[in-house]
Amino acid sequence: MKVLGVVGSPRRERGLSHRIVTKVLEGANTAGAQTELLYLIDQKPQYCIHCGHSCFEDGECAQEAEATSRSRLVDAADALVVCAPVYCWQANGLTTAFFDKHRPSAGHWTRDRQHGRHALGIAVAGGTGSGVFTALQSIYAWMCLSKYRPLDPAPVTRFNLSDVLADAPGLGRTLAEAQPRPFADTAELMLTYDQLRFMDFGRIDEFRWLAEQIARGLEARQDAQTTVDTLQRLMAEATSKRTAGDARGEAECIMRTYRIGAAAW
Ligand SMILES: Cc1cc2nc3c(=O)[nH]c(=O)nc-3n(C[C@H](O)[C@H](O)[C@H](O)COP(=O)(O)O)c2cc1C
Repeated sequence: MKVLGVVGSPRRERGLSHRIVTKVLEGANTAGAQTELLYLIDQKPQYCIHCGHSCFEDGECAQEAEATSRSRLVDAADALVVCAPVYCWQANGLTTAFFDKHRPSAGHWTRDRQHGRHALGIAVAGGTGSGVFTALQSIYAWMCLSKYRPLDPAPVTRFNLSDVLADAPGLGRTLAEAQPRPFADTAELMLTYDQLRFMDFGRIDEFRWLAEQIARGLEARQDAQTTVDTLQRLMAEATSKRTAGDARGEAECIMRTYRIGAAAW
């Protein structure tokens, strides 16, 4: 069993992506898996120029030999972790350049066998935390296209970083112990991804989730109890506005909650 971790941060070991993926791989290692890290920045994947050669047939990139060997390396892994930093509210370009050029030897969604190997996607955001779900949705779109059996998406922000680091080894163990579960057909594949957590999140859902993480984190701080009360009151107000069909009112409440919470963090 081999688990491959793909790190999309150009900062290599200095980034949070490295810290989290390393913890996941440590967990996989304790469960007996071999592990390997691929830093995308070492290869500087070029963007796909749609040259019209036969990469979708033979898996070979006519422009970049490393793109072919990268696809083979990913293909040879029994389970995968992909971690992308959030840049400008989406997965960063280094990671999406990797996606664009990946050509699986099995898993073409209209014809090949349904490989069903397990994969975990992680998106790491910075100061605001915003864009973390768009990034995850992009990672999981690629995982669906490539027919991986998905673990729950992992959004990471400064508001939940310590929880993610604590959970990461367990996720690695799950990856190491999971047997591939091929999809019966493309209907099952599509439905599996549509039903995953966070895949239907929009922007207000994202700020609500961020506000909830902030409130949870602040609960542990003695000096923040008044703020926590305010956040909880505003979130309850947002929920009643949503129930009443007042989307605009809900959005205003959520954005206020987030701003107050982030300022107090
Ligand atoms: C060009 C650029 C754009 C960024 N955009 C966002 C963003 O939209 N939302 C956010 O929360 N953080 C954003 N960040 C912060 C990074 O997501 C954050 O620093 C993260 O930790 C980077 O991952 P790494 O530590 O693994 O390198 C951005 C950083 C850069 C360099």
